Amino acid sequence: MYEKIPAGFFTAFDRQNSLLYNADDYEERKLSDLQGCFVAEEIRHQMALQENKTVYRVYKKTAPLVAGELLQAVTVLFPGTVNGEFFMTRGHYHIHPKCAEIFFCLGGRGLLLLQKGNETKWVEMKPDVIAYIPAGWGHRTVNTSLAGPLVFIAFWPAVAGQNYQRRLKEPFGKRVFQADRSYVIGDGD
Ligand code: 6PG
Repeated sequence: MYEKIPAGFFTAFDRQNSLLYNADDYEERKLSDLQGCFVAEEIRHQMALQENKTVYRVYKKTAPLVAGELLQAVTVLFPGTVNGEFFMTRGHYHIHPKCAEIFFCLGGRGLLLLQKGNETKWVEMKPDVIAYIPAGWGHRTVNTSLAGPLVFIAFWPAVAGQNYQRRLKEPFGKRVFQADRSYVIGDGD
């Protein structure tokens, strides 16, 4: 990757292909990667053995992992459910306790769940919403529409780091289920 960021470089949201132009890192998460995320764990497991759908893709632009630099990534979270519970990201906390993050919604409908201790908050995501994730809060996104993907771009400090284990001890307190043409927020683990 870089030792330092080249001056004047740019990225762009490629709306037609729903990806980050000029990204240099890519991640794809399938149902098989989301063990323990959904209430219906056995059903997720069976779905993973059969079709193993892609749940989300992340297109990232890297930077030197040092104080002062910023990272960015576009997430495309596909529509779907596991036994009526909407597709979601794994969710994580930052390793560095003093790093916030910003999500800018580019398309679709969803919820950003925020977790700290026993406290859960959420923000409705729809195009043009800019959601702020204060330092110390775990964050997970949920696509609440079966009509299409939830797409958003995230910006966060390069030194933040991602902790995926902490959600096992400090789990997201709310779950989001399909209800008629909308969603209902239920209690978590
Ligand atoms: C990040 C951003 C965001 C996030 C994806 C996938 O820190 O990179 O928060 O790009 O990683 O939406 O979510 P998970 O990292 O929780 O799988």
